[in-house]
Amino acid sequence: MLTRRQATVPGPIPVHCTRLPRADSPPLRVALVGMGRIGRVHLQALSAVKEAQVVGVYDLNTELARERAEAASVKRVFASWQELLKDPEVQCVGILLPHDLHEQYVSEALDAGKHVVCEKPLAPTLPECDRMLAAAARAGKKLLPVHNRVYSLGVEKMSELLRQDAIGEVFLAQTTGFEAPPTVQTWLATPRGGGGVLMSQAVHPMYVLRWLLGDVTRVSCLFGDRKVVDMTAEDHAVVLLKFANGVAGEMTCTFGIAHGPLDHSIAFHARDGYLELSRKGLQIIAPRMYSDTELHEIPLVETDSTFGFTHLWEDYSRGILNEAPTRQTAEDGMRAVEIVQAAYRSNATGQTINLPLETH
Ligand SMILES: NC(=O)c1ccc[n+]([C@@H]2O[C@H](COP(=O)([O-])OP(=O)(O)OC[C@H]3O[C@@H](n4cnc5c(N)ncnc54)[C@H](O)[C@@H]3O)[C@@H](O)[C@H]2O)c1
Repeated sequence: MLTRRQATVPGPIPVHCTRLPRADSPPLRVALVGMGRIGRVHLQALSAVKEAQVVGVYDLNTELARERAEAASVKRVFASWQELLKDPEVQCVGILLPHDLHEQYVSEALDAGKHVVCEKPLAPTLPECDRMLAAAARAGKKLLPVHNRVYSLGVEKMSELLRQDAIGEVFLAQTTGFEAPPTVQTWLATPRGGGGVLMSQAVHPMYVLRWLLGDVTRVSCLFGDRKVVDMTAEDHAVVLLKFANGVAGEMTCTFGIAHGPLDHSIAFHARDGYLELSRKGLQIIAPRMYSDTELHEIPLVETDSTFGFTHLWEDYSRGILNEAPTRQTAEDGMRAVEIVQAAYRSNATGQTINLPLETH
């Protein structure tokens, strides 16, 4: 088991590098496993990444894999997982599978000498995450989580504005994840396959808030009793967070919105302003920037919905090819899962849970 890292001390909002190093090497040869909804998104995103090349895909559903490969002009459909693992052409494997399969596929790929990019959440439990990080360390290969939202233009711009101190010191963060029941597919509705809305959906704002604000030290959570979605685990929850730098946070998430509005929003209240990213775009009240207290819109020119995935694969490909630092790491994947697990414990016990969790 890995040692729990100490939470960071209170301090300024962390500085992040948004200018990524360029690679001179040939493209990273990637195979993707799981050609479902997100498999298609990764294929589209990777088609715009010159640092990576998809050499093949694999899915238990061979017909679907063939269809996706043809649409994306990918030459190869692997006949089996073993065939993929044994192929020396494959340098990196993208694991785009239901959550309960992440550990097995990630560990086998690492043991076969491949780098791995794994969809969120890294795994449903911390022991699984620990074993996956240990497998990566043992293999000397990179394990990177699909934390695509830290690569979206809106979140990048938020990070930049916070670093520029555009709204002063943040003291309160709020996020919402409002999705509708059709989001929940068969495996997503099962306790191990998907977990609940916290594991499947709220893990996104959790890693985004960690990236923007730093480590979380305390977590409190309640599920409501009025379930509206046919799924085993929670379909709506409210989570309270305390960050190491003293910021208080609140996250509300659900799969049960009947008629909308559907949204994923992140808002910051600060001593001298307000910043919010939502379906309305990026909005700010910042007297320091505008010399007034009006709500201003900051234009975002995001070319398509796969932008965050493209930018992620650019960063991760360069990180692997150049052995360079990446914006997110396996540790970040595990920390996001740790917050979800703390929320589950809090709801179950009625206690506020301190992080890092000492026992798994
Ligand atoms: N980052 C994001 O924004 C985002 C969005 C949606 C889903 N996801 C994540 O992506 C992952 C997959 O979700 P999805 O919505 O694409 O699911 P999906 O059900 O649409 O696709 C899963 C695919 O995996 C295949 N599969 C299942 N078991 C397999 C096995 N043992 N070997 C090979 N293939 C197998 C299925 O045939 C299916 O095609 C999950 O981790 C999910 O949380 C991420």
